[in-house]
Amino acid sequence: MSLRISNLGPADHGGFVGEVDGIDITEPLAAVQVAALEAGMDRYAVLVFHGQDFTDQEQMRFSQYFGALENTTGGNITKPEERRLPAGMADVSNLDQSHKPYARDDRRRMFNLGNQLWHSDSSFRAIPAKYSILSGRITVDEGGNTEFADMRAAYDALDARTKAEIEELVCEHSLIYSRGTLGFTDLTEQERAMFTPVRQRLVRTHPVTGRKSLYLSSHAGTIIGWPMPEARAFLRDLNEHATNPRFTYAHRWRQHDLVMWDNRTTMHRVRRFDDTRVRDMRRTTIAGDAPTVAQEAA
Ligand code: OGA
Ligand code: MN
Repeated sequence: MSLRISNLGPADHGGFVGEVDGIDITEPLAAVQVAALEAGMDRYAVLVFHGQDFTDQEQMRFSQYFGALENTTGGNITKPEERRLPAGMADVSNLDQSHKPYARDDRRRMFNLGNQLWHSDSSFRAIPAKYSILSGRITVDEGGNTEFADMRAAYDALDARTKAEIEELVCEHSLIYSRGTLGFTDLTEQERAMFTPVRQRLVRTHPVTGRKSLYLSSHAGTIIGWPMPEARAFLRDLNEHATNPRFTYAHRWRQHDLVMWDNRTTMHRVRRFDDTRVRDMRRTTIAGDAPTVAQEAA
C-alpha cells in the first residue's frame, strides 16, 4: 500500500486540498512517507485522511514526525485542572471533563466560539504554529464543517499596489481581539496578561516554496503605526477578499477523519452546529521555528 495524494480542489488556482490514501498513521512512518507528506503539505497546504482510528498517544507520535509539539498553555481559558485531554493535545471539542457538552452560557464555551471566526492557529503567539493536525473522534452530521482558505492564492490575486502597500506591514495579534469581536470581554487580569498582544508580519514567505501569503487571522486587531479604525477597516477588507469562496474549501467531517493544515499559508473556521450534541475534536499543533518579526521587549 503506497501513499498517494489526490487533488480535492477547489478547481480555481490549482487546488490546495489533497486527499491522502495508502497510509495508516497508527504505524510508525518511514522517512519516505514523512517526506511525501511534507511535500504534499508544501504543494497543497491542507491534507485530508479518512478512516484513521487512533489514540491520543498515536496522534502525538504521528505529529512529531513534522516537528515539536506546541505547548498548549496560554491558548484558552480552561484551567489546567479542568483539562479533558493529555498535555500536548488541544481540546477543540465542546466537552467538559466529564465528556458532557458545555452549558450554553459556560464561559469556556463562549470563548471557544471564537473558532467560528476565520483564523490561523496560534497567531497570538510570538512564535506562531506551523501545522495543525485535527482528529474527528466524534463528529456531528449537521453543521460543524471546517472551512479553509488559501492565503497564497489570496495574496497572488491582490493588485500590485496593494501588494506594495502591505509588504512591510506588521499587525498586532491577541485572543483579546478575536474574542472582543464577539463581545466576549469577560477576562480576568491574569487572562489578559496571558493574552498580551504579539507582532506578526502581514505578508509571509513560505520557507520551502518561497511563495508569499497573507498572514491574516481573527486575532489580528491592529496594524503597527496605523490609527486603529483605519487598521480594522483595512483588515476587514483584506479578510473579505481572502475568504472569497474561490479561495476556500469546506470539509464535511466523517468520524475518524484527520485533517492537517499549514497555518502559515491558510486560515480556517468551524461552522455553527447544534452544540448540545457531542463533537469530540482533538488537535495536535506543530510549533513554528521563529517569530515572523522581532518582538517588542515585554
Ligand atoms: C482548530 C479549530 C475547528 C473545528 O482545531 O484549530 O479551529 O472544526 N477547529 O473544530
Ligand atoms: Mn483553529
